[in-house]
Amino acid sequence: MNDPRIIVALDFSTAKQALMLVDRLDRKLCRVKIGKELFTAAGPQLVEKLINKNFEVFLDLKFHDIPNTVANACKVASNLGVWMINVHALGGKKMLSAAREALPLGTTKLVAVTLLTSLGNDDLSIIGLKEEPESLIQKLSNLARSCGLDGVVCSGLETAQLRQTMGKEFCLVTPGIRPVNFSANDQQRVTTPRQAIESGADYIVIGRPITQAADPLMVLWQVSDEIRRG
Ligand code: C5P
Repeated sequence: MNDPRIIVALDFSTAKQALMLVDRLDRKLCRVKIGKELFTAAGPQLVEKLINKNFEVFLDLKFHDIPNTVANACKVASNLGVWMINVHALGGKKMLSAAREALPLGTTKLVAVTLLTSLGNDDLSIIGLKEEPESLIQKLSNLARSCGLDGVVCSGLETAQLRQTMGKEFCLVTPGIRPVNFSANDQQRVTTPRQAIESGADYIVIGRPITQAADPLMVLWQVSDEIRRG
């Protein structure tokens, strides 16, 4: 089965921009991610259009609410026919279990965000989280797995450790990817596609290096090739 490892982040504010970009991609080489900005602007209709173009969609809405609300939101998202959705692991055990139970196994993949990479030690301390980020990320990943989730979203820095501790069946989705010679933009710690895959990422999320490229398909080819050769 074709299982492309690249997820292109469609960080646009209109459906038109997103559709123009995907028409320049090859669905055999990538999946696409719709986040809060694009979904708020373009909604389920855009998800349907992308699925009709045979793209598999990661709906990155990071649900975080009471268990019943998150379970119902997951059910509705899955009914759109998306490939992957996510929730915040900080929503806790009951919320994660409710999300899992809402999705029949083998349908939409369900992954958790552990800690947002924008949170440093100081931010964590202000909200009363005194542990080191690495140990919290490990705890939240264990929690996600024990609740039956398929995996977590993690930065390139954590990928190798989580691959080791969580085993090979646990799905790791890694953003913050920059092919060699590309600007880091606002990403603090970047990993190349090959480094991320070699560290154990199943899927890598790439936005601007592809979406802002003069020739998006060329960059997609290059990244696919880099991964294959690795
Ligand atoms: O353009 P760029 O490659 O930086 O886009 C990365 C995508 O991954 C964005 O959609 C961003 O929201 C998402 N993301 C991230 N870092 C995280 C989690 C998600 O960059 N820790």
